[in-house]
Amino acid sequence: MSNVTMDKIVNLCKQRGIIFQGSEIYGGMGNTWDYGPVGVEIKNNIKRAWWKRFVQEDPNTYGVDAAILMNPRVWDASGHTQNFSDPKMDCKSCKQRFRADNLIEDHSKGKVSAEAMTNEQMEEYINENKVKCPHCGNFNWTNIRQFKLMFETSRGTLDGEKDVVYLRPETCQGEYVNFLNVQRSMRAKVPFAIAQIGKSFRNEITPGNFIFRTIEFEQMELQMFCKEGDGFNIYDSYKERARQFLLDINFSEDHLKFHDHDKLAFYAKAACDIFYLFPMGWSELNGIHHRSTHDLSRHQEFSGKSMAYLDPVTNEKYIPTVIEYSIGADRLMLAVLTEAYHEETLENGESRVVMKFHPAIAPYKVAVLPLQKNINEKAIELYQKLCKKFPCIYDEAGSIGKRYRRQDEIGVPFSVTIDFDTLEDNTVTVRDRDTMEQIRIHVDELEKYIEERIQFN
Ligand code: GAP
Repeated sequence: MSNVTMDKIVNLCKQRGIIFQGSEIYGGMGNTWDYGPVGVEIKNNIKRAWWKRFVQEDPNTYGVDAAILMNPRVWDASGHTQNFSDPKMDCKSCKQRFRADNLIEDHSKGKVSAEAMTNEQMEEYINENKVKCPHCGNFNWTNIRQFKLMFETSRGTLDGEKDVVYLRPETCQGEYVNFLNVQRSMRAKVPFAIAQIGKSFRNEITPGNFIFRTIEFEQMELQMFCKEGDGFNIYDSYKERARQFLLDINFSEDHLKFHDHDKLAFYAKAACDIFYLFPMGWSELNGIHHRSTHDLSRHQEFSGKSMAYLDPVTNEKYIPTVIEYSIGADRLMLAVLTEAYHEETLENGESRVVMKFHPAIAPYKVAVLPLQKNINEKAIELYQKLCKKFPCIYDEAGSIGKRYRRQDEIGVPFSVTIDFDTLEDNTVTVRDRDTMEQIRIHVDELEKYIEERIQFN
């Protein structure tokens, strides 16, 4: 991440087909973003890497894909219908709306945490410190009001008869309500985890720093069900696993830090976030929570179904404790883009932007580039062969230097050039994105060469 700013990332994303503004031709729609052809490949690779690490490679973790629309009683049990709201203040001059806790944290440059403050304490801080509107600069606030974050919709069967349903604000409830289904169908023994990746929706008001905070986003969540006595060990192990995952997809250790929560929910035993050094500063990337038996107990209470687990060895019957690990796929995408972004000055004085993604995260693994137009038949043949194995891109437009720059900007780890010698001896030049070194190899060795270098383990 050299000299990276949010503007540079947003511009690159638009220019290179990574992320576009949602509904752009209609003037956009606040806090929504569309992934383009390159972006969707990167995000899918992020999700694949996460699933591989936490589900595929862990025999005690089971995946699900639960419905977005759930029985509204789920949200009563989870507490969302009563409590899921943010403290908002409106600027009476420019009519913009802000989260009071964000105003305080931004004003104090992160030195004051509003996490444990009441609404009265937040108002007091804002008035005493004359915190101004970040949009128009005036000091002209309404009082704090609680703003509901769940999107409501309705399910109507007959005209006039409508039941309120909610777009889920988190995916984990689909994991809790399937605890017994998964345990019984998979003959799972505690401790075991349920994971899923899926869309969540929150009526967020605060402008969101690109894809950092949006109203529609994907979460990758995992709930580990365990015995109460094992809770803290498992909590610690997920803190480490979450950190190691980030290091393994090329994050620098210096850009990550743990942040323990100052204030815990009444049922929680421990909670921490991993913060990442985003372009706008240190902010939450993911959370790891020790949630005690709260979630399953609440679902037992509200559904009337026993959530108890019977230990087949000891015959003990108990409600399992939950350790949750939760990370937003879009927020991780922003962190991956930030981490990968590099500006370099080349030996000839020119500069390049290069996205140094882990090869498993890169949108395409290989770019096939014919050096001259009249040898493109051979190049297309090679491209068609390679894209049966991994995502590839073909580019024959412009000078070879410009084509390398384009591939660097979307982080393609290997560029393969085909020239007249290729027609003679079936060898090609392979250029490494990061070192820019070039080697000559036989086309028959190409697949193996690339395959060995793009794995995520
Ligand atoms: N089930 C627990 C839960 O949802 P959270 O801290 O509200 O906890 C977990 O969300 C993660 O989801 C966050 O750490 C963040 O990565 C992501 N996330 C939450 N709200 C988001 C939003 N509005 N836009 C993008 N990502 C969001």
